[in-house]
Amino acid sequence: MEDPVANIYQSVASEEPFFRLVDEFYAGVEKDPILRPLYPDDLSHSKQLLALFLLQRFGGRTTYSQERGHPRMRARHMPFKIGVAERDAWVKHMGNALDKVTEFSPFRAALDFYFQDFATFMINQP
Ligand code: HEM
Repeated sequence: MEDPVANIYQSVASEEPFFRLVDEFYAGVEKDPILRPLYPDDLSHSKQLLALFLLQRFGGRTTYSQERGHPRMRARHMPFKIGVAERDAWVKHMGNALDKVTEFSPFRAALDFYFQDFATFMINQP
């Protein structure tokens, strides 16, 4: 398939696992000494944005772009220092979250590839 993550929403067929995934992910970020300082004190808006982005990217509703416009993810991450350590921490917490939200297990290989690749693309510091 050309884009192996584009239709995951159709198979999961519920938004709830997406919000649970994001909650689990941010539970890890919250305790992470490398990542926590990058995020705002109140993580609720960050959670909402990530959930809406993933819903859209994986074939669900397009509220993310209706509210935020074109994703421009690399540009949106430029204000934050993202090196290999930050990238690896992000990927680790997303992997831990995927371990817990078993609705995504059938797509695990494609998701791991997608998140690892996308996180590498966000690196903006040596
Ligand atoms: C590589 C390590 C990464 C770091 C350190 C990082 C960090 C951040 C930070 C600090 C913010 C701003 C706080 C907020 O508004 O939520 C943010 C926003 C965001 N990140 Fe990341 N991020 C990384 C990778 C990713 C990846 C791989 C994705 C998607 C698969 C992603 C999706 C988003 C989204 C959707 C937003 C909100 C953008 C908006 O303002 O609309 N990030 N990220």
